[in-house]
Amino acid sequence: MKITVKKISLTEASCDLLVVNLFENVKSPGGGTGAVDKALDNLISDYIIKKEGFKGKLNEMYVLPTHGKIPADKILLVGLGKSEEFNPGKIREVSSKVIKKAGSLKAKTVCTILHGAGTAGLEAFECARALTEGAIIGNYDFDKYKSKKDDKEDKKKIETLQIIEIEESKLDDIQQGVEKGRIIALATNIARDLIYEPACEATPTRLAEAAQSINGIECKVLEKDEVEKMGMRLYLAVSRGSAEPPKFIHMKYTPQGECRKKVAIVGKGVTFDSGGLDLKPPSAMRMMKEDMSGSAAAIGIMNAIAGLKPDVEVHGIIAACENMPGSRAYKPGDVIKAMNGKTVEIDNTDAEGRLTLADAIHYAENQGVEEIIDIATLTGACVVALGQLASGIMGNDREFVNALVDSAEKGGERFWQLPLYDEFKDDIKSDVADMKNAGGRYAGASTAGIFLKEFVSKAKWAHIDIAGTAYIDKEIKEMPKGATGSGVRAIVNYILSL
Ligand code: BES
Ligand code: MN
Ligand code: ZN
Repeated sequence: MKITVKKISLTEASCDLLVVNLFENVKSPGGGTGAVDKALDNLISDYIIKKEGFKGKLNEMYVLPTHGKIPADKILLVGLGKSEEFNPGKIREVSSKVIKKAGSLKAKTVCTILHGAGTAGLEAFECARALTEGAIIGNYDFDKYKSKKDDKEDKKKIETLQIIEIEESKLDDIQQGVEKGRIIALATNIARDLIYEPACEATPTRLAEAAQSINGIECKVLEKDEVEKMGMRLYLAVSRGSAEPPKFIHMKYTPQGECRKKVAIVGKGVTFDSGGLDLKPPSAMRMMKEDMSGSAAAIGIMNAIAGLKPDVEVHGIIAACENMPGSRAYKPGDVIKAMNGKTVEIDNTDAEGRLTLADAIHYAENQGVEEIIDIATLTGACVVALGQLASGIMGNDREFVNALVDSAEKGGERFWQLPLYDEFKDDIKSDVADMKNAGGRYAGASTAGIFLKEFVSKAKWAHIDIAGTAYIDKEIKEMPKGATGSGVRAIVNYILSL
């Protein structure tokens, strides 16, 4: 789907489907929708609103033919909800739902009014960005393994989405908003693609290939012997039970001119989590191909960064491996020394993510970064606490965590802070080592967080637990069900805010 901008009036736009909008309880539309209403002899105000009772509630839709009164073949009238509650988030949501509707109407060419830029008075740039993000996220579909043609044919037919704007002065801003929205949404979809791939395809090796193929990003992949030499024993312990070779992936973006900050994104890349010898039951194991969603986000983020070129040095770091119960597998009770010298007693081989992250976080800090964001499908406890509506966030610096929460919200995501009280350290005390890798039944997301904190020394650090948000059972606002690419939009926004 191409997204373009055109200076023309809505009543002159020629397409299969023309999208216009209405705020809740508006009886006689103004602006672009008003112009279309007039051209259709008041069909919208006299018939759809008055007779059919169209209210303009958020995402409410009505499709009507134009009978040749204007060049567009059909009109899709969409409700924007209450004008006082309107914001870019609503634009993303409406845009996502409109594009799905356009797909089901088999429209090939869609023209749209720019929601929000009229009476709502939002900046054209923000509106165009939100509209683009919603459309690209809503139009996404993972069907590469479906062989039946007709399964595919109904969808993905939209060739162009054209944003119609009559005011010359807004065109540049709109174009730039489209460009930014496109880069961020496509990066989100790159993460979704990787998450959808089955574990037999998205192996550590394939993740490394995906990381190495990003234009404008340097990428180094460390093999097992190098990782061994560097002393990342926690990470290697997790990978030992699998025949699949581990790959330690280090992506780096260097800004051309000034460098405002050095940041590392550390993504959990367990390409399949069987639980190891502490094997998961079938129902819990079923979706564990998603256990590399943090690394998918890191790869998506680096893609966006390569396109957006911020004045920030960004590292993307992934200790990729599988967690399997093979005959060389690490065992409960094993004591293993981390790269930073601390010893860990293995309490549960299913608490593997924090082990891979511990060494990766230490490695990241050795790169001289000031801020580390780790992102991981880390705990079922986080899903119990927050469900699928918010990712958990913890960290060692309140301002840093708040800035991330803020960037998430602006980007259409939700981060919710969970505590990292010092007392949680008692829960991971070991009789034989510096700590163990799992706490008890209480506050599982926080005890995982407090474990990770042991591997950060001076850097500002935040940990984002996306176990509940990486793969959702039903749609949430603009995001359809399935893999979401959670973390990409939030973290890209954060980096841009520096
Ligand atoms: N990958 C899982 C966490 C997870 C659960 C991700 C649900 C996505 C959806 C993680 O490695 C895990 O198994 N965590 C254990 C930790 C426990 C053994 C301390 C958990 O949460 O049960
Ligand atoms: Mn696990
Ligand atoms: Zn896991």
